[in-house]
Amino acid sequence: MNFEFHNPTRIIFGAGNLARLGGVAREYGAKALIVTGGGSVKKSGAFDRAVQSLTAAGVAYAECDGVEPNPRITSVIRGAQTARSQGCDVIIAIGGGSVMDAAKVIAAATFYDGNPWDMIHHGQADVHVPDKALPIITVPTLAATGSETNCGAVITNEETKVKSFIQNPLLSPKAAIMDPELTVSVPRNQTAYGVCDLITHVTEAYFNGIDSTPLQDRFAEGVILTAMQWGPKAIADGADIEARTHIQWAAAVALNGWVQVGTNGAYPVHMLEHTLSGHHDVTHAAGLSVINPAWMRFAAKTNTPKFVQFAQRIFGLTATSENDVSCALEGIDRFEAFLRSIDCPTRLSELGIDDALLETYARDTLQIIHDEDGNLPGRPPMSVADIVSIFRSAL
Ligand code: NZQ
Ligand code: ZN
Repeated sequence: MNFEFHNPTRIIFGAGNLARLGGVAREYGAKALIVTGGGSVKKSGAFDRAVQSLTAAGVAYAECDGVEPNPRITSVIRGAQTARSQGCDVIIAIGGGSVMDAAKVIAAATFYDGNPWDMIHHGQADVHVPDKALPIITVPTLAATGSETNCGAVITNEETKVKSFIQNPLLSPKAAIMDPELTVSVPRNQTAYGVCDLITHVTEAYFNGIDSTPLQDRFAEGVILTAMQWGPKAIADGADIEARTHIQWAAAVALNGWVQVGTNGAYPVHMLEHTLSGHHDVTHAAGLSVINPAWMRFAAKTNTPKFVQFAQRIFGLTATSENDVSCALEGIDRFEAFLRSIDCPTRLSELGIDDALLETYARDTLQIIHDEDGNLPGRPPMSVADIVSIFRSAL
């Protein structure tokens, strides 16, 4: 292992902490742009409580509301225009991953005269790297993406149907106010998707990383076991604040970089899912839930010992050897059964997707990211034919 790690986001965690928003925001500015989604935070009262806290601390605000799930570049452009015209000096995202991601790119786009799509990796020769961004404060209302404490964002270009990412240290939130009470209103299906998303964040590096990362493996397994224990409780009873708390913390830990550090893992399942979302506007983790088990069955043939470890440590299965393929596959079946038990889809047909564009999805994904041989990075690297076979197995 050989790495450098720095995550600068200050975490303020625990029920009731929304009340601290004003005091924290005042450290970074006097006028905030509050970014929100389609209205859930207004309905739940979170928005009003946030504004009360800001007002008490002497922080004025402007608004960018209506950010879509699978946030669009047009919303980013609109938000940056508002931030500029209103003279905002701090960005506050109150919402799910879509709101937080849009807010992060708005923070950088405020200082960029060009089209912010230039910053999103979509296969262009010159990716614009931002050199300045407004300070960002995240207030997650959904436990899923981990966007609250990382420097990534995923944005969709609705015209070209491409969904892709930016990762830049300038987009690291200055502070994340993580108040599990804000997540009790998340509906059952979105709660389940969040559980699937956070698990997928750690399975990516777990299965695609280098060998011999024993501590990172244990971290990942801890996240998965915690999500499998507490996720169903949060789904069964949305008001279970203890379950909501553990799931929210697991979601942040799953993608703040700590679990992945040193593994050099790739994110092939995410890359494939983003392409599906770009074409069909599907919910991110519904797509992951279909692709991840299908990808696992493909990858288990080459990285069998890791899948055997997963089967043993997550599901308590017994293997005859570290290359026991049937044990590896049984572990994947159990994982898929868990996803089904929380009502996540596991077939493309459940997402309304047929086999018409499978090769297009493969080529579009490779357009965004590929290794020197033209394959999708992962363990093993994947050709167009490999990707099509994975999709086909999930039809
Ligand atoms: O839009 P509103 O009205 O707020 O409703 C949202 C939305 O309909 C609702 N919701 C959120 N909090 C709620 C709530 N409803 C009731 N009560 C609450 N407290 O949930 C719906 C989904 O919200 P969204 O933000 O889209 O979900 P999620 O947090 O799963 O974010 C998904 C987006 O994040 C990207 C995904 O690709 C997708 O675009 N990702 C971002 C990552 C990152 N930045 O690190 C990593 C992830 O892998 C992922 O790719
Ligand atoms: Zn994800």
